[in-house]
Amino acid sequence: MSASPIQGYLDDLLARFRSLDDGQVADYIPELGLADPNWFGICIATQDGFVYEAGDCRQPFTIQSISKPLTYGLALEAHGEATVLQKIGVEPSGDAFNAISLHPGTGAPRNPLINAGAIAACGLMPGTTVEDKTAHILDAFSRYAGRALDIDERVYGSESATGHRNRAIGWMLRNFDILAEEPTPTLETYFRQCSIRVTCRDLALMGATLANGGVNPVTRMRAVDQAQVGRVLSVMATCGMYDFSGEWLFHTGLPAKSGVGGGILAVQPGRIGIAVFSPRLDAQGNSVRGIAVCRELATGLDLHLLSPAQREAPVVRVSANGQGAASRRRRPVKQAERLYQEGERLRLLHLQGALGFASIEPLVRELCALPATAAAVVLNLRSVLGIDPAAARLLAQTQAALARCDTALLFCEATAWREQLVAAHVAPDSFHPDDDFALEHAENLVLGEAATSAQHPRASLAQCELFQALAPEEVQHLESLLEARRYAPGESIITAGDASDELFVITAGTATASLPGPGRRVRLDVFTAGMAFGEVAFLDRSPRSADVEALGEVECRVLSRGAFERMGAEAPRLQAHLLERLALGIAGRLRQANRELAALK
Ligand code: DON
Repeated sequence: MSASPIQGYLDDLLARFRSLDDGQVADYIPELGLADPNWFGICIATQDGFVYEAGDCRQPFTIQSISKPLTYGLALEAHGEATVLQKIGVEPSGDAFNAISLHPGTGAPRNPLINAGAIAACGLMPGTTVEDKTAHILDAFSRYAGRALDIDERVYGSESATGHRNRAIGWMLRNFDILAEEPTPTLETYFRQCSIRVTCRDLALMGATLANGGVNPVTRMRAVDQAQVGRVLSVMATCGMYDFSGEWLFHTGLPAKSGVGGGILAVQPGRIGIAVFSPRLDAQGNSVRGIAVCRELATGLDLHLLSPAQREAPVVRVSANGQGAASRRRRPVKQAERLYQEGERLRLLHLQGALGFASIEPLVRELCALPATAAAVVLNLRSVLGIDPAAARLLAQTQAALARCDTALLFCEATAWREQLVAAHVAPDSFHPDDDFALEHAENLVLGEAATSAQHPRASLAQCELFQALAPEEVQHLESLLEARRYAPGESIITAGDASDELFVITAGTATASLPGPGRRVRLDVFTAGMAFGEVAFLDRSPRSADVEALGEVECRVLSRGAFERMGAEAPRLQAHLLERLALGIAGRLRQANRELAALK
């Protein structure tokens, strides 16, 4: 294992900012004053649950005001946006955290992150007792962190004993009916919520949970409704750092929240949670090193959400036309040639990343500009990470628009998104398991009538690809050398690993070659009447590389190695013709494989 440069970067930041010793440990709550001013931790948790830690990331401290946006999310979850907006505004106040900043008319606190708004949010917690309300909060915060959190009873006692200003705020809220009951249980809930014990690592994972749409990326447990995550992050972006919020957003471009315990939690939505812990605070009650480190991280790692660095990655990962992408169905030579010549009528696109309006718009533009001759486009969604509702609607509308021009928009490897896309009105019959099956369908659309009419005809020996252009007496000779065999539907014709002393020519029906794959069998080839199979192993005498099975009733003619050798002695011209045809068939497939590889690059 080699040393991660990201870990190295965080270790370096820790060393560089340790010398920054401005600010004071909060002591307006006496118990907080006992914190060691030198504690310092930096932690990043990714949206897929990986955690980088540098310094004191396992040192417990109290969450304090970082609790506020999370409780606000719970209030929204319990009562809905309209009710909560009546009681708590979303306007930055530009005031200190403990300001009595209420709307002059309604008495509603300006936002949920100043104490007045946070106390009002505690009033909206389900339950009537301090125990019920606190249990609801503690349970949700534990799901955010991915472990059972507890309360620092000493800090709670100290906070409750000195929280006179907060009590004054509580009574003001009662006066304006923002709190419906006598405020004491709500205030004690608020004090207990602020005293929940966390570590820097916990905070980073809480941030990653918000970044991950409300689901803890390690435990996979939901902490808050996805619908509330954007609202929680919005108030963090505009009000999270109190009267420093504007300057904070200007420099870091990240929603964040600070607490007087020394923690700062910042989130890059969809990507990472960042936590810094250092108890020395500035005049606004924000961690001095926390602000400095977050600014450095935002610049050093280009995290600012409004910066041009946040441009979307291209949504199309691989793009090929019908010359570079073909199904495994082996086509009769004429059909294969036609598919090649009309390659532009078929497209295969592998998409990647999160599909939203901005990322998908160039794709919609490209699809709408396809010529009227286009028969089908296959979208492979294997590397797609998410589809937002607007993108799902756009895909459905694009499919309908293309259908009006007789161009089919097909989807494959889309199991995770099928339900959502069908709900957005994507046609349910446009989904296929993988590229192979979707391309087969698309090729049939390019071939039109020809695809079905030539699908299962019976072929005489003279019509088989290997034996075309033979003289009648040579065909007669062949008849005497080939054994006739019949297979019932589903019957095995070839088993992987077996010896290869027979060459098969299919004269009626369809057979498939496949191998066991992860979850289901992988189709390698589909043969119809007139085609040969088993020829590669027959030539190089290697064991069979795949299973071949009859799809329906199948009739074959089989050339054994003994008969092949007899042919060499009795009819050398016939054997030479057969070998030339085999070589041409293999060369054609090699060329196709090379084209597919080139298309992948
Ligand atoms: O209301 C209080 O005084 C504290 N328990 C929480 C304040 C706080 O964390 C302010 N943020 N920086």
